[in-house]
Parts: sequence; C-alpha cells; structure tokens
Amino acid sequence: MKAWELRGFGRENLTLTDKPIPEPSPAEVLVRVGAVSLNYRDKLLVEGFYNPNMRFPMTQVADAVGQVVEIGSDVTRFRVGDRVIVQYCTRWVDGPPHDNEGLHSLGNTIQGALAEYLVLDQRALVEAPDYLSDEEAASLACAGLTAWYSLVEKGQLKTDQTVLVQGTGGVSIFGLLIASALGARVLVTSSSDAKLERVKALGADEGINYARTAEWEKEVLKLTAQEGVDHILEVAGGKSLAQSITAVKPGGHIAVIGILENFSSDFPIFSLLLKQVILRGISVGPRRALEDMMRKFAQLQLRPVIDTVYPFADALAAYDHLYRGAFGKIVIRVTE
Ligand SMILES: NC(=O)c1ccc[n+]([C@@H]2O[C@H](COP(=O)([O-])OP(=O)(O)OC[C@H]3O[C@@H](n4cnc5c(N)ncnc54)[C@H](OP(=O)(O)O)[C@@H]3O)[C@@H](O)[C@H]2O)c1
Repeated sequence: MKAWELRGFGRENLTLTDKPIPEPSPAEVLVRVGAVSLNYRDKLLVEGFYNPNMRFPMTQVADAVGQVVEIGSDVTRFRVGDRVIVQYCTRWVDGPPHDNEGLHSLGNTIQGALAEYLVLDQRALVEAPDYLSDEEAASLACAGLTAWYSLVEKGQLKTDQTVLVQGTGGVSIFGLLIASALGARVLVTSSSDAKLERVKALGADEGINYARTAEWEKEVLKLTAQEGVDHILEVAGGKSLAQSITAVKPGGHIAVIGILENFSSDFPIFSLLLKQVILRGISVGPRRALEDMMRKFAQLQLRPVIDTVYPFADALAAYDHLYRGAFGKIVIRVTE
C-alpha cells in the first residue's frame, strides 16, 4: 500500500512509500482509509516539537475516516463494511484522565492514517455519522472534539453566554459553529479582515483583527460593556494567555488548548485570583464525548467547515497549506 511516512524530523523527510498492508491482530480492525484531515499537531510532529522521541519511520496523521475491510477474531464493535472514524486519544474511552490519555495517537506513537490502510484496536474507532461526507467526517475527532469538550462538556456553555475563539483554524471554527448553534454570542479574532467577513456568515457576532489590534483583549472588553466573555478557547499560548485573563469575565472559563504563538506563558497570577478565573488544560477528550458530540451534531445537522481537499499524491501541498494556516480544515482524499 502507499503511505506517507516521516523518516526524520523536517517536512523534507515526509516521503511517499510502498509498504505491506498491515494485518489485524485479534482485537484490531483493518480500515481502508477514505479521507484524513490535518491538524496543527501534524506540523508539530513533523518539526519534532510534539514527540522528540518519535520512532522512525512513522506514517503521519491522526484524523481519518474509512471503511472496515477486515476484523480480528475478537472484534465485537464492528463488522466488515462499517464506516468508522478514529478516536484521537486512542486509549481514552471514558472517565477522568488518570495518566497519559493524550499520549497514544496516530502518527505519533501509533502508525498513522495518511496511508491506504490502517490497523487499530477496535476501542479506538467509532461509527462515522451517515449524514457527513468522508471529507467532513474526517474533520471531527481532533479539532471538533477539542472545541466540544472545552465548551460544552467542561465549560457547560449556556445559551445566554459569550464565547471568544482565537483565529480561524480547525479548533476555533468548530468552537464558533458549536457556540453559535447553541445560541451563544461569539467573538472571533483573526489576522485577516477577509476571514472575519467569512466568520460572520458562520454565525460570528463580532470580529477583531488581532494583527491590527495587538491589544485585542481591550476590544473584547469594549464589545462586552467591560464585562468580558464567559468562555475562551485559548489556542495561541504565549502572551495570549495573559490577554485572555484580561478578556474573560470574573469566574469565567479559559480552555487552555494550544501553543500557536509559544509553548510557555507569563501571566498575572493576582488577576487570575481576583477574578477567580477557571484555567483548564485540555487534551482533546474521551471517546464517549466524541459519541455525544456526534449525536448532537447530527441533531443540529452541523457540518465541519473545509477549506481545501487535496488528492493523496499532493499531501505535501496540503502540509504547505497547514504551515500557512487554513480557514477551518484541510483534508486529504486518500482512496475513492
Ligand atoms: N490541547 C488539545 O487537546 C488540542 C487539540 C487540538 C489542537 N490543539 C492546539 O490548538 C492550536 C490550534 O490547532 P488547530 O489544529 O485548530 O490549528 P490550525 O487549524 O492550524 O489554526 C491555524 C490558524 O490559527 C490562527 N492563529 C495563528 N497564530 C495565532 C495567534 N497568535 N493568535 C490567534 N490565532 C492565531 C490563524 O488564524 P487567522 O488566519 O484567522 O489569523 C491560523 O490560520 C494548536 O496549537 C494545536 O496544537 C490542542
């Protein structure tokens, strides 16, 4: 089968190769991959920041949809022909985190999905929603669940609340879609006025250009009568976390998700205490939450926003797009 493997850190080491189709062990399922989507972590993996101890060669990418073509002798969750998606935290089925639930993901410690076939333990797969295309279904499990778990499950988002999402990448656009569908008021930041126009059509109430307005937290306060917002999806990290502490309401919730700007932050502890802000580290979410999310998405007929779909042979162009930043999701069609 064809697969895109990483043979050393750096995009130049992402190589299209031929390798044997893997064989499922008794608890595993063999999936013919239909489509995958890229996430920022795929860039971090290639650059060696996500898992400096990666064992090469490693087929890349975690988010995927495909069809079950063979099952191991002990598999009970699926039958040949089922359409499935990959749960990001492969060993986290439900319950609170205990240890390293976020550690074992595809393209990282497990051979990934940017290949014609993958094998995976049956526990790490869920049935794909019927109403979504392969391209859409491949976009849900990392970015979608991260936004859902942050806002709905952990944040207990309510209709009359206000949400701020940063930038217009995968997690943030899902945050916008979810919050808007559930009736919240949504503020979006972006480095692009054109993208801020596009988010209005997706339900955003306000847009702030963070490239032009470096102190965007002041604009957030202005737009909320100096109250601040109830929830922030903090995907930038670095100095943005201190700005988010200013922009959130007393008692508000900041889901600390990403490191687009920097891996560490300096922030004012005194403000955090005075305002009694809830800072919560997020590691995508368990499989049960993904299943809950997909049920609600189907009810609301929510569809992921896809920027561009690339053919399998053009995976490197898809990675270039990831490095530039996308509006929503970048998808690679693997097999028809
Ligand atoms: N903790 C978790 O469980 C988890 C799960 C998923 C993702 N993440 C992390 O969350 C972050 C976002 O992931 P993603 O896959 O959604 O990324 P993505 O799709 O690659 O997002 C790219 C977009 O982010 C925006 N951006 C870049 N730098 C920014 C900054 N300094 N401030 C505000 N926005 C900025 C840009 O939007 P504009 O072009 O509109 O400016 C860019 O187009 C990453 O750091 C990723 O590693 C963490």
